[in-house]
Amino acid sequence: MAFTVAVVVLKGGAGKTLISIALAEAAAESGAAATLADSDPMGGAVRQAHLAQEAGRPLRATVLGLSTPDLPKRIGSITPGADLLAIDGPPPGALKIAKAVMESADVVLMPCPARPGDLDRIPATLEMAEGVGVPVFGTFNFYKKGTNNAAAAEDLVVAYGVNMLETRLIDSTKVAENYGLRPRGLVARYGRDLLDELTRKAAA
Ligand SMILES: Nc1ncnc2c1ncn2[C@@H]1O[C@H](COP(=O)(O)OP(=O)(O)OP(=O)(O)O)[C@@H](O)[C@H]1O
Ligand SMILES: [Mg+2]
Repeated sequence: MAFTVAVVVLKGGAGKTLISIALAEAAAESGAAATLADSDPMGGAVRQAHLAQEAGRPLRATVLGLSTPDLPKRIGSITPGADLLAIDGPPPGALKIAKAVMESADVVLMPCPARPGDLDRIPATLEMAEGVGVPVFGTFNFYKKGTNNAAAAEDLVVAYGVNMLETRLIDSTKVAENYGLRPRGLVARYGRDLLDELTRKAAA
């Protein structure tokens, strides 16, 4: 069975899609058989895969659209031979799909926007994962070193008891400019570091 990472946080615009793509592509770049499953009914990851294809540098991972609450039952049969499966989580309201995605996974990777106002759904996300019995690792996104927002966000994740990875993604237009492209530059680097740290820590 593929090492399955559910990229979920019950908050919109947190970077789930971008981070799922970065993770799957890092695995594919390293020679692994990587699948990216899009559980968002709006199909954000599938759309970006199409755009990358049109731009002449298709994603290397196999991309599937899979927004269905019976995902856990089907997950084995839809990813035969994959080494890594990254599932792009649904938007916040789709609780049934979010839970199904977690139930399909070995670990939940929870993007945490490093802005206190955007961390309000962390407790609900942790609670859902705890109910499912799957471990959660947090990764900061939109991180701006040395700012009050970053400091307050660091305090909040400690207060919530989130197991944070060291790998974090900075807030940058260079990141946003990766939209619809195969990850490059700092997003590709983030994906590699994330895959490395997550694989190590999930096995520990
Ligand atoms: N670190 C960052 N710096 C700048 N822009 C970013 C960063 N991370 C994500 N973005 C941009 O923010 C927007 C939201 O990211 P993304 O679509 O990955 O979030 P999401 O959690 O999947 O959102 P949704 O809940 O709508 O599916 C995108 O336009 C993306 O390019
Ligand atoms: Mg998305």
